[in-house]
Amino acid sequence: MTKTAIVTGGAGDIGKAIARGLREIDWDVALVDVAETVHETAADLGARAFCCDITDRTARAEVVATVSSPGALVNCAGIVRLTPVPDVSEAEWRQTMETNLYAPFFLSQEVARSMTDGGAIVNIASVSGLRAGFGRMSYGVSKAALIHMTKQFALELAPRGITCNAIAPGPVEGDMARAHPPDQVADYLKTIPQARYAKAKEIADAVVFLCTPAAGHISGQCIAVDGGWTAAGVGVAAAQNQTWPPPDLATR
Ligand SMILES: NC(=O)c1ccc[n+]([C@@H]2O[C@H](COP(=O)([O-])OP(=O)(O)OC[C@H]3O[C@@H](n4cnc5c(N)ncnc54)[C@H](O)[C@@H]3O)[C@@H](O)[C@H]2O)c1
Repeated sequence: MTKTAIVTGGAGDIGKAIARGLREIDWDVALVDVAETVHETAADLGARAFCCDITDRTARAEVVATVSSPGALVNCAGIVRLTPVPDVSEAEWRQTMETNLYAPFFLSQEVARSMTDGGAIVNIASVSGLRAGFGRMSYGVSKAALIHMTKQFALELAPRGITCNAIAPGPVEGDMARAHPPDQVADYLKTIPQARYAKAKEIADAVVFLCTPAAGHISGQCIAVDGGWTAAGVGVAAAQNQTWPPPDLATR
């Protein structure tokens, strides 16, 4: 039987790639996004579109009422504001939490009720929820909480055959990463062992895997898709510049 996934943030770079990946394995997809372009994206992919704000309770209820018994929910919609601590406003704090944390919570709660035959919830977190980054107070806290929320859902939904996992992308090519100031781009390229940003498809591939039965025993995990960034400590530049095999190895 064809399964259906709800993907929020479906008009954005990563959400679109996730929807494409799920369509490629013949899932039906319902794209949810506040941007009008969600209609065009959905038409391109042969998906359904819901143009609405996920922070709006009535809008969420309408999505859940329309998509019957979904097999997956991907909480991908998110916003980022890069603001140093002294300048973080109450409005920024509240809007970031509403979008990145509260809406995924309530949507997961509502969708889990309507998952009648098991399912998968995948939360798109961020490496900013694992490590601190300059200007990422509201964003990083929202994503760290989302990672913990993932574990709570994994625990309580396990008896119903529903998995819940998070993906923590490092920087990804696209609109959101275009907001990175040049010094931070340089910093990332120096500290990511693979010395590059991810492609949206690389995030999508991990999400699609987590939605399939092959990932059925994985739950409560946060998988960083970050080119090795969170794994690395000292010596990234040395590793990036190393010739391999080292020239002297041949003579040993
Ligand atoms: N791009 C990156 O470098 C990066 C890195 C780590 C994590 N992430 C996370 O990945 C997710 C997707 O990011 P992206 O790069 O595709 O960004 P994006 O800006 O291209 O897409 C985000 C989408 O979410 C939608 N959205 C925002 N608020 C919404 C709301 N209230 N209701 C409905 N839709 C809403 C936007 O309209 C947009 O289409 C986000 O949660 C982001 O935090 C991105």
